[in-house]
Parts: sequence; structure tokens; C-alpha cells
Amino acid sequence: MKPPARQPQGFGPVAPAARARWRARAGWVLTFFVLACLGLPGLTCAADRLLSFHNDGVGKASDEMARFHQEMLEDNPSELWEARGEQLWRTAAGPLKADLTGCDLGLGAGVVPGAFARLPRWFADARQVMDLEQRLVWCMTQQQGLTRAEAEQDHFGNGPQRSRLEALSAWIAGQSKGLPMQAGIGHPEEQRLLALGERMFRYRAGSHDFACATCHSGDHRRVRLQEVPNLTDPADARQAWTSWPAYRISQGELRTMQYRLADCLRQQRLPEAVYGSELITALSMYLAHQAEGGIVTAPGLKR
Ligand code: HEC
Repeated sequence: MKPPARQPQGFGPVAPAARARWRARAGWVLTFFVLACLGLPGLTCAADRLLSFHNDGVGKASDEMARFHQEMLEDNPSELWEARGEQLWRTAAGPLKADLTGCDLGLGAGVVPGAFARLPRWFADARQVMDLEQRLVWCMTQQQGLTRAEAEQDHFGNGPQRSRLEALSAWIAGQSKGLPMQAGIGHPEEQRLLALGERMFRYRAGSHDFACATCHSGDHRRVRLQEVPNLTDPADARQAWTSWPAYRISQGELRTMQYRLADCLRQQRLPEAVYGSELITALSMYLAHQAEGGIVTAPGLKR
């Protein structure tokens, strides 16, 4: 007998528009597989064919990319989001006409420097382990009197629709620049989420039976021309975690870890993740723990 289909916690229904987008993308992926397999007769054409290893050509291209990246980094557009984030922090809003300067990000009310480097962590007032964005939403509801839906309504910016949470995250993360990562793992709830996040990282699911680990647990892997970090290796994990939120050149937007993980769950062919859900916090807890000791460089700059 077939086991009943299970909807993992933390996923919402797939919007029809998103479904259509995925279907279109799935078509491209299939075409890619077919072409890749035709080009290599005699080899087994498994899902793992999507992942391959460097060759000299890719090495040279990535050297060029690194040079370009370094040049862009000097004028990182994320500064615009940081400036707006600081302004939002200090501007009264919501039914209670309050700013966010009384928000406790874990180091005490209104203390911003160093706070990002200690997240995610357990918050006794909310009785929950929270990442930066969840905590910001919490503060917007508690201090400014917004509902959670109102606080989250613009969680991902899109051109003229600018996101408060992305701007606030950029500024707050930037206030931990140069400090070592030290997410909380002392509280039993922090440990529970860490274990859940690691399980989820290795959990294979979806139409392609991918786990995060399928793409992110080997050295020198790439998906097409994109290098994929080995997040089980602390060196790669540190570099990855500490450079988000980041300005994405391809999107012209500053993105947060909530966005990055939602996008990777999409790459894993899973339903759309719910913003601020425990699933994302658990994955973040695992990644932040892997990145322990890494120096915060955020806001970063990405392809
Ligand atoms: C099908 C392959 C694939 C799967 C499955 C996948 N990812 Fe990714 N991931 C990528 C690619 C490709 C990139 C780099 C994208 C880019 O550079 O634009 C990436 C980037 C990332 C980054 C940012 C790395 C950095 O250095 O900026 C993180 C963090 C991440 N993934 C976490 C995850 C997690 C957690 C999961 C499981 C929920 C997951 N990924 C599943 C392919 C995948």
C-alpha cells in the first residue's frame, strides 16, 4: 500500500503562478538532463549528473568572477538598504506610533551592535527560537502594534515594492561586521532546532529525491556553472552564512537568508516555504552552528 502523501510542516500551498513558473523551469531542467545524457553515451543518467566537478575552463571563469566580485564589493549597493534600514529602525510606525529602538534582539532592548552574530537564539518573551527576521516581525507586532500579516506583508522586496524587513536585516547584520558568529546552542529548544535542521539538511524529498546535502555536501560541486558550497565543511559554511543578507546582482535586490533558503527549497523541488516558519529557523540554526567562529562580513554581494 502506498503511504499517504505527507505535507512537511512549514510549507504552504503552492500558488498557481508559482506552480506555472516551476513547470516552465522543470521543462528546462529536463531539457538540460536530456542534452547532458545524449552528450555522454554509456554513462548512467542519474539525478546526480546535475552535479559535476571543476575543469580548467570553469576555474578560469571563476577567477574572473572573483576579480569582478572584488571590484563590485567596494561599491556594494547593499549600503542603500542599510541606510533605509537604520531609518526604519528609528521611525515611528504602526497603530502604536512607535519606533523599533526598544526592540530586544537578544543583547538587551535597543542593542544592535553584535546582535546578529548571536542569532538564531532562544527568546524567553516569545518562548521561541528566532532568527533575525522572525525577531523583527515580533518587535513590529509588540512595539508598533502591527499584526504579523502586516509586519510580513512586504517580506521580499520586488522593484518598487520595497521590503522593510530586508532593509532592517541589512542594517542590523552590518552592525555585527567583523565579529565572530556564535549562535545560541545552550537552551534545550536551541538544541532541538539544531537537530531538526541537521535532519532536514539530509532529508531527501520531492520529485527528484534531493536533500540539501545532495547539492551541498561535496567539495567542488557545481550546478551548471554555479559553484555550490559544501555546507558540511565549516570553512565553506562560515563563508556562506556570514555573507548573508546580500545584494544579488542578478536580481537588483538585497536578499536575506529567509529568501536564500526558500529559493533553495524551490531548487529542491519542494513546495513554497512559509516565511518565518520553524523549518527555516531550524535550517538556519544548523547553518549558523556550522559557521560558528566565522567572521561576519554581511551585507554581502552575490551573483
Ligand atoms: C539542486 C541543488 C540544490 C539544492 C537541493 C539546494 N541548494 Fe542551496 N544552493 C544551490 C546553488 C546552485 C546555490 C548557489 C546559487 C548562486 O550562486 O546563485 C545555492 C546556494 C545556497 C546557499 C548560499 C551559499 C552562499 O555562499 O551564498 C545556502 C546557504 C544554501 N544554498 C542552503 C541550502 C539548503 C539549506 C538547502 C536545503 C533546504 C539547499 N541549499 C538545497 C543549489 C542547491
